[in-house]
Amino acid sequence: MLYAILKTLHLLSIILWVGGMAFVLFFLRPALGSLQPPQRVTLMHDVLRRFFGAVSAAVVIVLASGLWMMADFASGASASGVRMPMSWMVMATLGLLMMAVYGHVRFVLYKRLQRAVASSEWSAGGAALGSIRVWVLANLFIGLVIIGVLMLL
Ligand code: HEM
Repeated sequence: MLYAILKTLHLLSIILWVGGMAFVLFFLRPALGSLQPPQRVTLMHDVLRRFFGAVSAAVVIVLASGLWMMADFASGASASGVRMPMSWMVMATLGLLMMAVYGHVRFVLYKRLQRAVASSEWSAGGAALGSIRVWVLANLFIGLVIIGVLMLL
């Protein structure tokens, strides 16, 4: 029962994280092209503050639930001699990479955006948003690779 609850939380957190990245990149951002830089950069700054708050919680849940499920499997497997699936190792490795990329986006690039908004430097804000877009796109790609590996391996 606990395993099923943790796996559900794991999946819901992934849906929020991966789905949110796709929403921001492919639906929200293109729709803001008609706004002037001050409005566009300020709006994206506010949206990302809320989204990154949710992603930070999702990262903690994904990591804690994932490690707990692996430990639970390993404790049962050591008795029966069953090996951990290769797809789980790929998920954990690439998942840690996604978390590192998220850390860079949240604690380096988003801070740059915060500073630009605070000092009304809209071109610097636009540049920070451009860097965030590239790294979020990379993370979305890694997330989709993980899901593909889990479904195919
Ligand atoms: C360090 C990070 C992670 C660890 C340790 C981890 C570990 C796990 C474990 C142990 C399971 C249980 C599998 C089962 O019972 O069948 C699981 C399920 C799953 N995880 Fe992760 N995970 C991590 C990150 C991620 C990421 C980043 C994604 C996707 C972007 C992801 C997607 C999934 C999916 C889709 C399942 C369900 C698989 C299925 O039922 O076939 N995980 N994870």
